[in-house]
Amino acid sequence: MFPTTSLISLCLAAFVAGQQVGTQMAETHPTLSSQKCTASGCTTQATSVVLDGNWRWLHATNSTTNCYTGNTWDAALCPDPATCASNCALDGADYGGTYGISSTGSALTLKFVTGANIGSRVYLMANASSYQMLSLLNQEFTFDVDMSNLGCGLNGALYLSEMAVDGGLSATNKAGAKYGTGYCDSQCPHDLKFINGQANIVNWTGAATDPNSGSGSLGTCCNEMDIWEANKNAAAFTPHTCTSAGLTACTGTQCGDGADRYSGICDKDGCDFNSYRMGDKTFLGPGMTVDTSKPFTVVTQFVAASGTLTEIRRLYVQNGVVFNNSETNIAGISPAVNSITDAFCNQQKTAFGDTNSFESHGGLAAMGAALKRGMVLALSIWDDHSAGMYWLDSTYPTNASASSPGVARGPCSITSGDPKTVEGSEASNSVTFSNIKWGDIGSTFSSTGTGSGTTTASSPPTGPTQPSGGSLPSWSQCGGTGWTGSGSCVSGNTCTVLNPFYSQCIPA
Ligand SMILES: *[C@@H]1O[C@H](CO)[C@@H](O)[C@H](O)[C@H]1NC(C)=O
Ligand SMILES: *[C@@H]1O[C@H](CO)[C@@H](O)[C@H](O)[C@H]1NC(C)=O
Ligand SMILES: *[C@@H]1O[C@H](CO)[C@@H](O)[C@H](O)[C@H]1NC(C)=O
Ligand SMILES: *[C@@H]1O[C@H](CO)[C@@H](O)[C@H](O)[C@H]1NC(C)=O
Ligand SMILES: *[C@@H]1O[C@H](CO)[C@@H](O)[C@H](O)[C@H]1NC(C)=O
Repeated sequence: MFPTTSLISLCLAAFVAGQQVGTQMAETHPTLSSQKCTASGCTTQATSVVLDGNWRWLHATNSTTNCYTGNTWDAALCPDPATCASNCALDGADYGGTYGISSTGSALTLKFVTGANIGSRVYLMANASSYQMLSLLNQEFTFDVDMSNLGCGLNGALYLSEMAVDGGLSATNKAGAKYGTGYCDSQCPHDLKFINGQANIVNWTGAATDPNSGSGSLGTCCNEMDIWEANKNAAAFTPHTCTSAGLTACTGTQCGDGADRYSGICDKDGCDFNSYRMGDKTFLGPGMTVDTSKPFTVVTQFVAASGTLTEIRRLYVQNGVVFNNSETNIAGISPAVNSITDAFCNQQKTAFGDTNSFESHGGLAAMGAALKRGMVLALSIWDDHSAGMYWLDSTYPTNASASSPGVARGPCSITSGDPKTVEGSEASNSVTFSNIKWGDIGSTFSSTGTGSGTTTASSPPTGPTQPSGGSLPSWSQCGGTGWTGSGSCVSGNTCTVLNPFYSQCIPA
């Protein structure tokens, strides 16, 4: 979700969204198990996923008359935002048949094009009526991804948005999380049909290049942590902060549209770590160190030893081998690093000549505050009607020299992401996410050291287990490769080696 509008431009199905509950089709959430982990092991949870309301058939509560067709609202059913919300109902979804969404056990596959439907976005649910809240401050999140069938111009995304647990259920939103309502992100998208229980019909304008999408005067803003935005050629992880907590319906300058980009309440650029953009062009891709022609594991650690988010770390595991994230190789980022810290963000923005809206919107501390409050997990597959995904996998801005700092982001050509092309040639593309786990740092993955990678983590954890009696609180880091801080936990805790990269103060 880097430049201009990104998520705003998600392609939508021929059918669209609303706020009452329709009864034409029962809503049955595909099951997708996940795991919650601690140092003593992982517990499987009976979670499921729900399709975002924007993709659903929206029709009159008392008939099958569409409230919205193509990118036009029905004027009789929708004379004003409140009447529209009471006249229109969201219906159940045929996940596999209409949307190309399927799950089995702990694996979810999202197909790009299915019939008339293009792309999809789902959220992890704790139960039939509530999103699963993830509070990942000083925690770790891990998943496996297979993006061997996901080419240039596409984005198989897994990320956190600070949505409400019930999807904004209210007197004017009877559908709620069960029907995938209440989306928001740091781009303050205007393409949501309903925001805070009101139809977004004021000044609704159909999208120039997308017959099924449009935008209204309201945008829907909230903190966003992009854990994974990727196709087989490039990947980025990116925190994006906002100056307000939870979902904020924006209008005007607050939304940060166009020339107001840096005046809005959210940081639209974020602070990205894309290995290719950060100077290692052979780290992640087909046949590379992290070989995207096969599945692999992505580990993200939200380090907050003293309660404030200070670092976002990334590790990869493939064939049982743990790989550090690639190191930066950029003039002006010194020393070279492999994680996101405020210092890295500040140096990156200067080195690339980018506006530092990440810092001005609160930086990592603000991201950490949202992670602590709890966020909802979104999984999506999409193409980019505003910028061709060139900000992720190609040269961006496309008219700049690829040798200018920060411009080269991936190997894809500057015409590869045109939606007209990818919706044809890559229609059968898909992404599979599986084995979603989260919990204490170091508890969600292991290395067997039996693989054939070039960087092995089979060397044993270093450093002795330290006695307690120090000052580090429970669950804080106390050791690991590169750790220079204290190894002494408060009384009652033991500094325990969890993996070569992380030791943690664990209560006895
Ligand atoms: C259906 O609802 C609309 C809007 O509330 C109303 O105008 C119309 O009369 C209703 N039709 C029937 C058959 O109840
Ligand atoms: C569903 O999950 C939410 C959030 O965890 C919880 O508050 C609620 O009690 C659960 N409802 C049921 C019916 O289990
Ligand atoms: C709708 O568009 C009109 C004409 O451009 C503008 O004056 C008005 O402020 C817009 N309304 C909102 C809520 O943005
Ligand atoms: C690229 O295009 C933009 C928008 O048209 C323009 O403002 C900018 O000056 C151009 N940059 C270069 C390096 O040509
Ligand atoms: C992994 O990264 C850490 C810094 O985070 C560094 O200290 C360590 O040497 C790296 N390990 C390998 C095997 O490259």
